[in-house]
Amino acid sequence: MLDTTKPAARPDNPRFSSGPCAKIPGFSLDMLADAPLGRSHRSAVGKAKLAEAIALTREVLEIPADYRIGIVPASDTGAVEMALWSLLGPRKVEMLAWESFGEGWVTDVVKQLKIDAEVRKAPYGQIVDFAQVDFDNDVVFTWNGTTSGVRLPSADVIPADRGGLTICDATSAAFAMEMDWTKLDVVTFSWQKVLGGEGAHGVLILSPRAVERLETHTPAWPLPKIFRMTKGGKLIEGIFKGETINTPSMLCVEDYLVALKWAKALGGQKALAARCAANAAVLREFCAANDWIANLAEDPATESTTSVCLKFTDPAIRDGAAFAKSVAKRLEAEGVALDAGAYRDAPPGLRIWCGATVETADVAALTPWIEWAYRAELSAQG
Ligand SMILES: Cc1ncc(COP(=O)(O)O)c(C=O)c1O
Repeated sequence: MLDTTKPAARPDNPRFSSGPCAKIPGFSLDMLADAPLGRSHRSAVGKAKLAEAIALTREVLEIPADYRIGIVPASDTGAVEMALWSLLGPRKVEMLAWESFGEGWVTDVVKQLKIDAEVRKAPYGQIVDFAQVDFDNDVVFTWNGTTSGVRLPSADVIPADRGGLTICDATSAAFAMEMDWTKLDVVTFSWQKVLGGEGAHGVLILSPRAVERLETHTPAWPLPKIFRMTKGGKLIEGIFKGETINTPSMLCVEDYLVALKWAKALGGQKALAARCAANAAVLREFCAANDWIANLAEDPATESTTSVCLKFTDPAIRDGAAFAKSVAKRLEAEGVALDAGAYRDAPPGLRIWCGATVETADVAALTPWIEWAYRAELSAQG
């Protein structure tokens, strides 16, 4: 008989969603009281808030002084598409994808922009071979594949003296993983991930080489207003000082500021990355101790420290997809893990967000529940 006794302790916070992610520890709406609501984002107070968000982003992420940081519409997707539509065209393009978001950018470039790109794909659990990539081409990739839990271990594979631009969707990596800025020309993320901010706004970071491209290249296709970063062949510098293209939510800006200040007080990028690593380590040890569950990432060096994807490996499981779904449902019904099922396009399993706003004690308290749900489901399948 399988032991299906429920564990005694529960995570204090069961929010393990991979986006929007858990708010900062101790969050309350009262913390947003300083938001300049009902004021123009172009007023002195509005502009000061936006400029502060940019300055703190630079400080916490240790972004070089000559890189531009802009707050842009439409979350991470907006930031990525703005970059693709504005920058691609003059050089050959390589698209790297190892899960569904990376594949979405392939669709954008190949089907919408109709660029004859070299496409390199790896199946879920694996990563593309960066040694084969020609960095004299423009290269588009996702640092951390949120739906497969597979990440690029480091930027060492990217040459410093490349001819092309590196365009990196880092939405589930920024603030969690050490990134060598000298290897990255375009980096994007949304506030809703590692810092537990809100959706709707994206951040677009540009190296001097990316700015040079913007100022010397005119795309062959039309650019909607919300993608336009140049005027008369010159960068619109205001965008990177807080003069947003259209109206941002000052409530979301305030919320981002609160999260950034929490991150800074904690010790910045290194401290945030350490929290993520400690969370992911709990799940790594859990997998090592149990032969019925494993990380979806095949190479431990590529295991994500934010969107950790787990698969059930017990051969006694009859219908893998139904089993994993039921396990996630049990966890949700018990109130111990919300939104912890694998992404809809990913292989069946669980996806446990381990970003900086998640407490390690909560991940530790969750693991006995995963074991309980697995046993209960195995027992139910008969
Ligand atoms: C890697 C990656 N890219 C893009 C997105 C889309 O982000 P957003 O909804 O903030 O535009 C996500 C969202 O989960 C993601 O994980």
